[in-house]
Amino acid sequence: MKMTNTNHSKQIERAMLALQKQKKTIEKAHYRLNYHFMAPAGWLNDPNGLIQHNGLYHLFYQHHPYNADWGPMHWGHAVSSDLIEWQHKPAALAPSEVYDHEEANEDIGCFSGSAVSCREELVLIYTGHISGRTPKEVQAAAVSQDGIHFEKKNKNPIISEPPSGLSEDFRDPKVWKYNDTWYVVIGSSINGNGAVSLFQSNDLDTWEYRGIALEGDGTQGDMWECPDLFPLGEKHALVLSPMNMENGKNIVMIGDMDYSTGKFLPESQKEIDDGLDFYAAQTFQDEKGRWILIAWMDTWETDFPTKAEGWAGAMTIPREVVLDEQNKVKLLPVRELENLRGNQQQFSDVALNAGESFDLNGDGELAHSYEIKVDIKINENKGKAGLHLRASSDGQEKTLVYYDMETNELVVDSTASGGATQPNISKTEVVVQDTISLRLFMDTCSLEVCTGDGGAWITNRIYPEPVNTGMQIYTENTNVMVEEVNVWSLKKVIE
Ligand code: FRU
Repeated sequence: MKMTNTNHSKQIERAMLALQKQKKTIEKAHYRLNYHFMAPAGWLNDPNGLIQHNGLYHLFYQHHPYNADWGPMHWGHAVSSDLIEWQHKPAALAPSEVYDHEEANEDIGCFSGSAVSCREELVLIYTGHISGRTPKEVQAAAVSQDGIHFEKKNKNPIISEPPSGLSEDFRDPKVWKYNDTWYVVIGSSINGNGAVSLFQSNDLDTWEYRGIALEGDGTQGDMWECPDLFPLGEKHALVLSPMNMENGKNIVMIGDMDYSTGKFLPESQKEIDDGLDFYAAQTFQDEKGRWILIAWMDTWETDFPTKAEGWAGAMTIPREVVLDEQNKVKLLPVRELENLRGNQQQFSDVALNAGESFDLNGDGELAHSYEIKVDIKINENKGKAGLHLRASSDGQEKTLVYYDMETNELVVDSTASGGATQPNISKTEVVVQDTISLRLFMDTCSLEVCTGDGGAWITNRIYPEPVNTGMQIYTENTNVMVEEVNVWSLKKVIE
């Protein structure tokens, strides 16, 4: 198969030069994160093509390398041997062909998709998007022998139009192999509801339409972006990023996949993360057999204060997806994150009366980048207990993370987080027996909080003033016992 990708290589070189030029500006940025993945400069959204290929982890992502606004979509690329330290590589895909590029049209490009290993080659399957054209979205593939340089296939587009009945929104292919057959789910919409279309193939080039694997019930949004269907234990999981859903934005359903009929039969549904800044989650199975999920740690229609610094967008920490005995989804921070830990402070058995607080040391290395593990024993079914984080010395500016004993909710309140933070109160229901166990990951401008069992998560971007580093455990209207608290500084591993 002879491929001619001269324009593609040229577009990639151009993008790399543009990034190089932005280096100086980025070096001065003070909100750059310490251990969450970011693009070297410019705009980033969805994680794409997550895979471990020949031992190495690959993270591709929706990228606009020319400035910090969304624009013609490229696939940025980075590799890692441990999911924690990432090394930037040249962009893997740039808009360059008739099906993903059009002169003088900014709403174009290589939209989200996935990666598979096939006979030693690394294959990317993505959506070619050209706004204003019919069809607007087609599916295409690119192949690499060395895992760095990708050639778009001559056969592209490999799926040249949406099946009849589906809307022109037809994107974000996620490919997987099951019993020696390739399957792909593609996000779409039908009669105003989200829908997932299913295709199958023996060679990744020729795809047979199997029908709609699942369509929305009227409450799940009008278009499903970034569908991800994968076997999890004895079940299958379907991750969706619905547009315009009233009570959700990134959901996971657990159910059964009937490969003979091509239908997914959901049994349960829940929001993966109840924070504001969590979207377009994608999973992959690594060589240890773990299903690992990474999401865009932002979302559409929010502010991006770091645009002023020449960059926007980051990824969440990698989380392992597991099912408990009741087939409930839990997300556990991957083990490898423990390698980031530096200085530690530890306290145990600190009794706090209603209205009291207890200072943790947020100085030096711990200032902006740390992990907290805390177990708080509650004595009564009233009041609140939790943490003040990134607090100013006068207490005016702070982010609150607390458990509300009356409503049984874990709450992250960023209304007083300061800086350019978009005020927000995120809540998630948690049933606590007698001890609240929380795990928190703070970075320069992000906060991820989960319960000890990984059953509930809240991820929010906060933009406090860098000088505000106060950290306290507090309680309101109730007496509690801080059974144990550990705080570790987390080192900087991302440029
Ligand atoms: C989700 C999404 C995808 C699309 C991509 C474009 O955030 O809208 O549906 O492929 O972003 O950048």
